[in-house]
Amino acid sequence: MTSSQDNQSLPARTSASITILGSTGSIGKSTLEVIALHSRYRVFALTANNNVAEMLQQCMRFQPVFAVMVDADAANQLEQVLLGQGSTTRVLAGEEALLAVARHPSVDTVMAAIVGAAGLPPTLAAVEASKKVLLANKEALIMAGELFMQTLAASDAILLPIDSEHNAVFQCLPPESRLAGSDIRRQGVRRIVLTASGGPFRETSLDELAQVTPAQACRHPNWSMGRKISVDSATMMNKGLEVIEACFLFGVGPQQIDVLIHPQSIVHSMVEYLDGSVIAQLGSPDMRIPISYSLAWPERINSGASFLDLAKQPDLQFFAPDLTRFPCLRLGLEAAEQGGTAPTILNAANEIAVESFLRGGIGFTDIPVIIARVQAQMTCRKADSIDIIRQADEQARAIARELTARN
Ligand SMILES: NC(=O)c1ccc[n+]([C@@H]2O[C@H](COP(=O)([O-])OP(=O)(O)OC[C@H]3O[C@@H](n4cnc5c(N)ncnc54)[C@H](OP(=O)(O)O)[C@@H]3O)[C@@H](O)[C@H]2O)c1
Repeated sequence: MTSSQDNQSLPARTSASITILGSTGSIGKSTLEVIALHSRYRVFALTANNNVAEMLQQCMRFQPVFAVMVDADAANQLEQVLLGQGSTTRVLAGEEALLAVARHPSVDTVMAAIVGAAGLPPTLAAVEASKKVLLANKEALIMAGELFMQTLAASDAILLPIDSEHNAVFQCLPPESRLAGSDIRRQGVRRIVLTASGGPFRETSLDELAQVTPAQACRHPNWSMGRKISVDSATMMNKGLEVIEACFLFGVGPQQIDVLIHPQSIVHSMVEYLDGSVIAQLGSPDMRIPISYSLAWPERINSGASFLDLAKQPDLQFFAPDLTRFPCLRLGLEAAEQGGTAPTILNAANEIAVESFLRGGIGFTDIPVIIARVQAQMTCRKADSIDIIRQADEQARAIARELTARN
């Protein structure tokens, strides 16, 4: 996915100076593992919310120019310890500092791996500053997709998807169709098929689902991920969010996207063409593969992930999703159809409901109930300004907080 020009024709970048937004999280740590394998990459800035212990270790190992902690106390604490260790890394605090290291002139690549809506402002800042943006933070695109894609089109930024499914689709599309705004049907594409593992509760009955705990929901069978996306995966909201994400990234409507349960997570997604050909991307379920692909694109580099041995692989299975046991997927598909602020409302209500579930405030099956109630209380509008998006986001969060507190 690129902006106006065909970046396929750009010369390969041999080195890069990188900011990692959300370096202490699951994607952030995997990114640093890939970077550690290649001397061509230099870490310019690392950012986190408040995890001082992890950030300290990362700073000592990668010696970034800047380390940002959004939490001011955490920033103070980190600064004291780093000074004591003789580190030259400068510590910054607060949300403004995230913007500064995302758009800094010395940076050419930004990994956007903050979880949730908090990732939107620095990711947009990186796009506005025409960086190569590796997008893991799907919530930014879901919350403000139209605006995000308009900002991309007005910049010279390059946007590469990190979500394994979208990264797979990107790899399966003809290069000229990866451009933002191009009509993929003209390239003979019939539909995009996003695969889904089905999560830890793929075969769990509705009655049992009502009793599942946060620890069970966070135990994904194939992927090791942060807690929020693990719960999204367990409810299958993650796949609903990914359908919306794919609509924006590849310029298609939800009617051109199908979801298929594939419990082995080996086929990461597929593109079906008009002649009946289906091109799929396969690999081990390891986020270092899409991360290294995007870091080096258009080159290929070693990711550190294990290679597939298909002869030793159990059978690859595919099933249609069950929208009765997983109503969050249905809510996601409906929001994709509706467009406007519907995805913003869905995303905000989901973030609050998941937070509450993880704290033990509501049950697992209450998550879609809360989201549907928030949707019922709000009117969907055209999402054509940041103010309208912020309003919808804040209102949905306020209603969801009230509903979860009452539950
Ligand atoms: N994990 C995966 O395999 C995967 C796959 C595809 C897409 N994604 C997407 O990638 C993003 C990151 O996922 P993750 O699993 O890596 O999440 P995670 O492990 O929970 O890490 C989140 C990162 O964001 C930081 N953060 C949290 N709240 C913040 C705030 N308010 N302001 C600034 N920074 C904040 C955290 O800092 P602290 O450590 O200090 O809290 C941490 O560095 C999500 O949008 C997710 O949907 C993840």
